[in-house]
Amino acid sequence: MVVLRDGMCPGLTEHLVVALRAAEITTVEDLVSTDTEDLAQKCSVSYKALLALRRVLLAQHTAFPVSGDNLYEDLMSSTAIISTGNSSLDKLLDSGLYTGELTELAGGPGSGKTQVCFGVTLNISYQLKQRVIYIDSTGGLSASRLLQILQIKNCKMEEQMEALQRIQIYRVFDIFSLLDCLQNLRSTGLQQASMGGGSVKAVIVDSVSAVISPILGGKHNEGMSMIMHVAAVLKTIAKDFNVAVLVTNTVTRDCNGNLKAGLGQSWSHVPRTRVILQRLESPGSSLRTATLAKSSRQPCHLKETFDLLCWGQSEDRLFVSGKRKLENASRC
Ligand SMILES: Nc1ncnc2c1ncn2[C@@H]1O[C@H](COP(=O)(O)OP(=O)(O)OP(=O)(O)O)[C@@H](O)[C@H]1O
Ligand SMILES: [Mg+2]
Repeated sequence: MVVLRDGMCPGLTEHLVVALRAAEITTVEDLVSTDTEDLAQKCSVSYKALLALRRVLLAQHTAFPVSGDNLYEDLMSSTAIISTGNSSLDKLLDSGLYTGELTELAGGPGSGKTQVCFGVTLNISYQLKQRVIYIDSTGGLSASRLLQILQIKNCKMEEQMEALQRIQIYRVFDIFSLLDCLQNLRSTGLQQASMGGGSVKAVIVDSVSAVISPILGGKHNEGMSMIMHVAAVLKTIAKDFNVAVLVTNTVTRDCNGNLKAGLGQSWSHVPRTRVILQRLESPGSSLRTATLAKSSRQPCHLKETFDLLCWGQSEDRLFVSGKRKLENASRC
């Protein structure tokens, strides 16, 4: 509810605000939902002036109708698909991570979630020369590992440093600091991280389960509302700033013994796309399978195998225009 104040729009003088209050009209909603002719008589003000004021307030405070084709065009021009840097994962994800959406990587300990996050981060910062916000809640982020992956690419020292500079790291330890961090990023429009060229293309949270799991259980309702709060802020960031959001999660088993993502039923609806990572062979192997568990574009249960240690060694497409892929997606 927006309270009427003098000066908030042309024609809304202090005198008029007082007159409106006397007629029990205190908010914009009160004013636009009351018959203008009756109100003009009640407040002894000009009907024309009141009508003009109503129009201005409606324009300022109501959602403007947008036609479906305009909305579709906006979506086409603003959506981008960001390659993960790994052709197998890109295949599974229908070319890569979509901006404006939340993608989840779920897997058990050692399944490769963090290494995949590193690979995606470096593909964006080194290959695309764009920025990434990396929120680490497990202490798993290692600058030396990032540098090690860059060194495999045989790039110059200067390029390695530039790539690392484009990664903005936040460390959080519980759900409260995660929410603080996300709210702060949202209120500053990701600007802090945009300084120095390039724009933020992805926000990575490794992991959401590490901060959410501890609050589940006891005060169930409170925990659930916080989960949904985290989900809402992540989705808003993805949409408002047109970035791809990538989160990691643990796995549990369903009643048939199949792997499923953790954090329960409510969270299961949050990511638009979900990939489950698993070790392929012995514990020491770097081979992993990625299975599509949720997607609006590809058939679920698609499976790809890849080597965690061979990130970005093939020359993948880096940045696909959203238009072509979305047109394809709409046919699926
Ligand atoms: N510096 C490294 N060099 C080579 N392999 C590594 C390196 N760091 C980790 N790995 C390997 O990558 C595998 C995946 O580890 P990763 O940390 O990505 O798992 P995770 O799914 O994030 O696990 P967790 O749930 O415990 O966070 C591990 O089996 C590990 O052996
Ligand atoms: Mg990890």
